[in-house]
Amino acid sequence: MKDMYILAIESSCDETSCAIVKNGSVDISTVILSQIDIHTNFGGVVPEIASRQHLKNITMVIEECLNKAKMTMDEIDAIAVTYGPGLIGSLLVGVEAAKMLSSIYNKPLIPVHHIAGHIYANNLNKRMEFPLIALVVSGGHTELIYMKDEYTFEKIGGTLDDAVGESYDKVARVIGVGYPGGPILDKMAKVGIHEYNLPIPLNDESYNFSFSGLKSAVINLAHNYEQKGIKINKDNLAKSFQDVVVEVITKKTLKALKDKNVKRLIIAGGVAANSGIREGLKKICEENAIECSYPDLKYCTDNATMIGAAGYYAYKKGIVADSTLNAVSSTNLT
Ligand code: KG4
Ligand code: ZN
Repeated sequence: MKDMYILAIESSCDETSCAIVKNGSVDISTVILSQIDIHTNFGGVVPEIASRQHLKNITMVIEECLNKAKMTMDEIDAIAVTYGPGLIGSLLVGVEAAKMLSSIYNKPLIPVHHIAGHIYANNLNKRMEFPLIALVVSGGHTELIYMKDEYTFEKIGGTLDDAVGESYDKVARVIGVGYPGGPILDKMAKVGIHEYNLPIPLNDESYNFSFSGLKSAVINLAHNYEQKGIKINKDNLAKSFQDVVVEVITKKTLKALKDKNVKRLIIAGGVAANSGIREGLKKICEENAIECSYPDLKYCTDNATMIGAAGYYAYKKGIVADSTLNAVSSTNLT
């Protein structure tokens, strides 16, 4: 079969990214322009600024990606793009760029759900096999997805309020350790000890999560200590918080694997970089003879390579769009 080269675009949040991916698994060229330094000044992503930055950079990022691959648009077989979910203004920049390329060069246009992209980042490492359970943990998502087969998704659980990455970022902001909070708190947790008692949120038999109560508990604890004039040990607070997150995530993931009788777990999304979550899941997988895989760290956070990987399988399933494709800020993965 002829090789298929997909040019993919991702712009759902604060990374402008373009990649060329061969046959859904080989990264030919990836360019990621992060806006993190700009948003750090505001302690979080400012949607209006994000979309303006995408607009400013998208053409340059696409050109650089083609140059890096030493390829021309004639050698590209299809265009894949993240159509949602995400920040609407940001998504629109990527979708319009992809539509334009598809129309000018007469290439098929493949719409990709951002979460499908995070999941298929695993395919860049090793071909995914099915059935499997995917745990998607990012700044915008905390979901357990059952995949019976290639490019079929059944959401079996998810967060009822904040996403896990979001709660990391908010806790970090409140205790004043910087942005983005995930990697910072993770580093602090490595040197801290479990000193503070925090509640395990939604500690029930469902596959759902709730992180807003945990975040509030941390914030209340920090304020109480402050009022009493007691200095909080921030490393220990980070460790106590991370331990609770790891406990609830590993417990629910293991339950899903057992109930569905599945022996494969893949982890996806920015929070998959978290060392505590990695260790916790590795342990339960070893204890239960479950094969566990993660994307390379560079493919955990937002990138277009994962969109090119997912786009290949979407295309094989006949998922294509036309010039009416629109960006959607909130959409389920089905
Ligand atoms: O997947 P991603 O790049 O963007 C979304 O689609 O949301 O994930 C970004 C999120 C941020 O909330 C960031 O704080 C979190 O991933 N993150 C981490 C770590 N590295 C990134 N959270 C916990 N531990 C980490 N090591
Ligand atoms: Zn993401």
